[in-house]
Amino acid sequence: MAPPDGLEPAIAPHLQQERTVPARLPSTDYQPPFPSYSARFSEELKDLVMAVIGVQHPDGSNGLSNEFEKIRSFVENPTVQCSPRHWEAASVVDSSGYFNEVAIVYWRSRREFEEWRSESGFDEWWKGLEVEESHGWFLEVFLPSIDRFETVFSDNVVTEGAGHMQESISGPIQQHVYWGSMRDRLPASQTDHLTGEKTPEGVHDTNSSLADTRTRRIRVTGRQNLAIIRSGQDWSNTKPLEREKYLNTMHPVLIRGMDFLRDKGDEVGCFSCRLMDVVDKTSPATSTDKTFALAYFDDLASLEGWSKAHKTHLDIFGRFLQYAAELENDISLRLFHEVMVLEPEQQILEYIGCHEGTGMLASMNRGTAS
Ligand code: HEM
Repeated sequence: MAPPDGLEPAIAPHLQQERTVPARLPSTDYQPPFPSYSARFSEELKDLVMAVIGVQHPDGSNGLSNEFEKIRSFVENPTVQCSPRHWEAASVVDSSGYFNEVAIVYWRSRREFEEWRSESGFDEWWKGLEVEESHGWFLEVFLPSIDRFETVFSDNVVTEGAGHMQESISGPIQQHVYWGSMRDRLPASQTDHLTGEKTPEGVHDTNSSLADTRTRRIRVTGRQNLAIIRSGQDWSNTKPLEREKYLNTMHPVLIRGMDFLRDKGDEVGCFSCRLMDVVDKTSPATSTDKTFALAYFDDLASLEGWSKAHKTHLDIFGRFLQYAAELENDISLRLFHEVMVLEPEQQILEYIGCHEGTGMLASMNRGTAS
């Protein structure tokens, strides 16, 4: 059934299939209360890559380090054919007090990524890295086939993340602002329940070998249907009144939610959550007024469960509705997210001398490291 006039289905026509798994859409004539958009990729694009390449400093130091500059030299290497299509720099001080700097890097296919890692010298450098006391390194590469990837943007002019590789932006989509809409936007969900490897709540093996993660190179095995969300907030375009409202009322609620996922995420199936500041690539002291949360869940259902039922996201959601009402819907805050649900072979997760709570190292507690 076609959506009502003026709305498009979130799933692009070439990725639509006859459903064997019912949609969560409340009714075929459902109309969301405000518009959102999805990236449209060319039909030739079969998969894409988002890599998180990071360095971790135990001393909590600030500013872009020499180690980060090394990462940048590969990402921006002008001599390679398959340069990334887009990249951003971001940083966060984590709950252990370590300062983490990352490049979030996008390619338009696994082939382009493989060529880049070999041609740029990154692979050789990465393989030769030794554990050092002064810093750790991590590499988290996600390689979703396009049917396992979805985006939603509050804005159809300024794009973000994988949107930099889009062919076009959709018109207003029908599938948003109801619980389950994220799943309905994922093409693979038409025929697949995307069930992950759920882990029992709060399982932690205190006798595991995690104590020495700072002295080892560790590869974490991919998990079936690992769910990744990158959820971004950009208040750079807001006028003073909205800006003040965002910083004083919305941002604190977001921080509380992200602190919960970071510190108690195992209660809801979240392995890792980092609320990161996007930093200016050339001048790290310059604020960009942009953040994003990057979070890894054991199952898409766990991410859905947290967002629709946990107080911390309900508070974020509720505050946003109030925020919109107070500003009479005249909002310049931009929000987006990209979500992927991955097969084990669509994940490369490697940690060199990082502390035990870093990214998917946290899943080692649940028996998946080698
Ligand atoms: C959905 C608000 C941050 C996870 C939504 C929706 C709103 C919202 C309005 C419904 C949107 C739609 O479908 O069009 C916000 C605001 C945030 C924020 C204002 C920050 C200022 C986050 C973060 C995460 C997250 C950081 C995850 C780490 C989700 C998920 C859904 C959702 C998974 C979709 C649920 C589903 O469709 O079943 N949020 N959110 N949100 N949000 Fe948030």
